[in-house]
Amino acid sequence: MFTACLPIKTRRVIIKPMIEFPKDFLWGAATSAYQVEGDNFNSDWWQWEKTRPGIVSSGAACRHYQYFREDFALAKSLGHNSHRFSLEWARIQPEPDKFSDDQLNHYVRAIDSLRSLGIEPVVTLHHFTNPLWFSKIGGWENPQAWQYFLAYAQKVIQALCGKVKYWVTINEPMVYAYYSYLIGDWPPQKKSPAMANKVINNLVEAHIRTYRLIHSFYKKNKLIDPSVSIAQSMIAFVACQKSLRNNLAVYLRNRVFNFRLIEQLSRKKCLDFVGMNYYTRHLIDTRGWSWEELLGNTCTKKHDTLPKNSLGWEIYPQGLYDLMVALKKYKLPVFILENGICCDDDQLRWEYIRQHLKKVHEAMDRGIKVIGYLYWSLLDNFEWDKGFAPRFGLCAVDYSDYKRIPRDSAKKLAQVASNGLLEE
Ligand code: BGC
Repeated sequence: MFTACLPIKTRRVIIKPMIEFPKDFLWGAATSAYQVEGDNFNSDWWQWEKTRPGIVSSGAACRHYQYFREDFALAKSLGHNSHRFSLEWARIQPEPDKFSDDQLNHYVRAIDSLRSLGIEPVVTLHHFTNPLWFSKIGGWENPQAWQYFLAYAQKVIQALCGKVKYWVTINEPMVYAYYSYLIGDWPPQKKSPAMANKVINNLVEAHIRTYRLIHSFYKKNKLIDPSVSIAQSMIAFVACQKSLRNNLAVYLRNRVFNFRLIEQLSRKKCLDFVGMNYYTRHLIDTRGWSWEELLGNTCTKKHDTLPKNSLGWEIYPQGLYDLMVALKKYKLPVFILENGICCDDDQLRWEYIRQHLKKVHEAMDRGIKVIGYLYWSLLDNFEWDKGFAPRFGLCAVDYSDYKRIPRDSAKKLAQVASNGLLEE
């Protein structure tokens, strides 16, 4: 039989290479109480905002205090299986000798709500803000600061212990000391290296004591092993041009800002994982040998090669990889507790997330154990002294009616979270 040979139209199926994350990987987003809850009028920031001309007030923020259930349901719908948030110390302990069961119960309800959705809570005890009474007695400059903090931590641990595995004691101790005590942009606006150092030491002491308290409490009550850390801000320091002085500046900044606390706390066996917050790189171009130059000077030349977020921070995913690899020697799992971008272009947001996730995966290939990746932030929110203009959220917030609108990037991340697969 004769069959005509007809050309067959073939459709080319392009199979895009995918990278795969482990099944037990934690996916989610992070927030902090003061930036989303609203009406934290017992906190030092609230008071400070009111007295600073030109500083936007946090006011109702995102009204997350009222809408936490809806927000957690939204996170669930976006495929999140983990969520980091902080407790507002000033709510829980409004006066030195008074704890509020009502407020503690609010956070118990928040955690129950997360758990009922199958979302693993990651609880931060301190995220930049303090009770007003605490700031009036010297805040973190007070040599007894850690004792006050420990009393608060104890109350919280008693109330939440069986419900929480992942604890973050202090968010970004170095960043807090830097902005509040070294360059004086944030309350209490001190500008003293000696003071900043004292504050860091008190924060470290608070962490160590709290770490031990959590562990002993869980052990005594035969609870699952807790996992406790700080959230360490890490910046990729890169010399603008190689020179002995610039290399020295890179080395010193890595030691002081990125690794000092991790080194110290891991030596004391007070870290169960490295909580890592990563956003950007700083280019360094020192012009002298003074400490100010070596530790403080950034490059002012125009290097417009990398895209930037709306605050002008460079997007540099390679830095995340390099820092993660540098953490390998501590032999601790890494948990990305914050990584995110503020921008008006949501495609750029997705590219940012994708590129950083690729670097996380690359680091995993190099043998770094990673617990999870939490994007900063679930919602657009109050960006401290920058007010509400920077938009970091996976979900846009319309501040006129507090509606949350998931962005496309949130949906794309949801897809990755649902099957652990990311397009290369
Ligand atoms: C802080 C957040 C802040 C974010 C973006 C982090 O350093 O923990 O509170 O909103 O950076 O600036």
